[in-house]
Amino acid sequence: MEIRLARPDELVGLQQIEIASGEPFRAIGMPEIADDDPLPLAVLTHLQSLGRVWVAAEPEPVGWIAVEEVDGFAHVEQVSVHPGHARRGVGRELIDHVGAWAAGRGLTGLTLTTFRDVPWNGPYYERLGFRQVSDLTPGLAAVVEQETARGLDPATRTCMLRGV
Ligand SMILES: CC(C)(COP(=O)(O)OP(=O)(O)OC[C@H]1O[C@@H](n2cnc3c(N)ncnc32)[C@H](O)[C@@H]1OP(=O)(O)O)[C@@H](O)C(=O)NCCC(=O)NCCS
Repeated sequence: MEIRLARPDELVGLQQIEIASGEPFRAIGMPEIADDDPLPLAVLTHLQSLGRVWVAAEPEPVGWIAVEEVDGFAHVEQVSVHPGHARRGVGRELIDHVGAWAAGRGLTGLTLTTFRDVPWNGPYYERLGFRQVSDLTPGLAAVVEQETARGLDPATRTCMLRGV
């Protein structure tokens, strides 16, 4: 498996991977998350044009990660692995790849927002070295506000940070 920058012609397929990766939320009583729209193509296209979208390819993409810079951190906008390729360390490799990229750019660390108690969200990222933060930078606070406006219950969410 190779981790490389995404190509423009792969972005619609990455949305399909994100939709598929949401399916497990149905089994834990969160169907609205399974049914949520993927990251809009316009956003993916913008991030890809900036070189901020990577795929795990074997050789077709089976997972991907997209980041933005928020307050000096590489903020993970989305990480998705197709369920048919899950639990083989692809997610960890994508996160580590972006961590090395962030370090090379002189960024302070990685941040993300996620569901605190979903096993493959908060507890998973803790195992990858993230810790929960409550003292949010202005950019992260804005991310949380946008999520709340989209209908995500802030009581179920957490912001997490890992240094590089
Ligand atoms: C989070 C995600 C990217 C991890 O990808 P991955 O390649 O499976 O990750 P890894 O192989 O590195 O680690 C998998 C770990 O996640 C946890 N996990 C994954 N699926 C799980 C499930 N259905 N139930 C419980 N734990 C699960 C386990 O801890 C697992 O480790 P284990 O297999 O040793 O038990 C993937 O689960 C995904 O795409 N999820 C849907 C999208 C999502 O939730 N994105 C994050 C929103 S912030």
